[in-house]
Amino acid sequence: MTTTSPYFANGEVDAPVSLCSNNNDTIDKYMPAKHPETEAIRIQTKQTGEKEHATPLFLTSSFTYESAEEMAAAFADDTLDVNIYSRFSNPTVDEFITKIATLEGAEDGIATGTGMAAVFSTFMTFLNNGDHIISASAVFGSTHTILTKYLPKWGISYSYFNMNDPAKIESLITPKTKMLYVETPSNPGLDIVDIEWISQLCRKNNILFVVDNCFATPAVQQPMKFGADLVLHSATKFIDGQGRVLGGVVVGSKELVNQLYLFVRNTGPSLSPFNAWVLTKSLETLYIRMDKHAENAMTIASKLEGHPKISWVKYPFLPNHPQYEIAKKQMSNGGGIVTFEVKGGVEGGRRFLNALQMLSMTNNLGDSRSIASHPASTTHSKLTDAERLEVGITPGLIRISVGLEHTEDILNDILQALEKS
Ligand SMILES: Cc1ncc(COP(=O)(O)O)c(C=O)c1O
Repeated sequence: MTTTSPYFANGEVDAPVSLCSNNNDTIDKYMPAKHPETEAIRIQTKQTGEKEHATPLFLTSSFTYESAEEMAAAFADDTLDVNIYSRFSNPTVDEFITKIATLEGAEDGIATGTGMAAVFSTFMTFLNNGDHIISASAVFGSTHTILTKYLPKWGISYSYFNMNDPAKIESLITPKTKMLYVETPSNPGLDIVDIEWISQLCRKNNILFVVDNCFATPAVQQPMKFGADLVLHSATKFIDGQGRVLGGVVVGSKELVNQLYLFVRNTGPSLSPFNAWVLTKSLETLYIRMDKHAENAMTIASKLEGHPKISWVKYPFLPNHPQYEIAKKQMSNGGGIVTFEVKGGVEGGRRFLNALQMLSMTNNLGDSRSIASHPASTTHSKLTDAERLEVGITPGLIRISVGLEHTEDILNDILQALEKS
């Protein structure tokens, strides 16, 4: 939750403001920017007395008070707009939250130490013993673990639906269903669901609709525009964009975020101010990066189509994607991830990875460096073939997180590895 930020020079207190004017005298006059690209760059904590240009880093665990009475007042009300301790709030973290909330079209947000902390905090805040959650079966591996191993321990049941058959959702709804959860596009299968259609269904049945928007980022898709209640991210991915720090964020209405804030404040999965500083600086280049990731990815996906060593290529903006029309409706580009099936099954996938010369072999994604991964032999190797298929992972599936290198260099490395696989 964003609180106000102390302005050390004169003790005034101000929320992060958009620095849309070059005139420092008017810095505290918020001039709403029209374009999110500008907001991502110009929203900034109010300048301190040092007159810094880049945003400052408030690397502090706690905050001080002028008097015992002021300190007592700060502790008397959990929702008071004042910084106390960085597990509760911090100006640098608030700046990061304010930016993401603005870009997603949300009223407010909370930030967490990892994407999984964002997912878990959301489940823990809004689900109670006896409740039921409906989720797409194609979700990130650790989210699958929370749904199947931990939630049932606390009396929370789940049902999965296949993202290629969303009509089935309706039959899964019971009076106990309190939340519907999707990643769109999903990791790693790139399945897509119609956010607007699901949000209408949720509204009709009084179900909280949560979207993991990690693969798209707000630069490509804003699920709240289509009716989602809460949007969350692993900020570790494209939001950082250079594979440096872990982070998570959840945004939504003030009413929902306040409940999340109290959970995070009291249980402690808060985002570190240092990581928030890295992430808020990263947001300045988010739009330009996502455009280039998508341009490279689209070129690579198109060039790989029909390759004799590949059975199929999947990319949201390729017309053969099963949910191409939905992707075009709710995404401004296809994002930075391409998947394809190398012929030769699990062994074919391994041979491909071993033949790569430039692409990194690592499980992260959303980096300026292109990355290749083979879920069947790594992240999902402990699942049975049937379980893998259920979450959209075929034996030779390769996930490419297309980076910002020259398109030809990325493509040439993939082509030469395919020749050898
Ligand atoms: C779609 C998605 N959601 C959540 C997460 C978890 O994020 P983190 O690794 O920051 O905890 C990931 C990580 O890869 C992811 O891909």
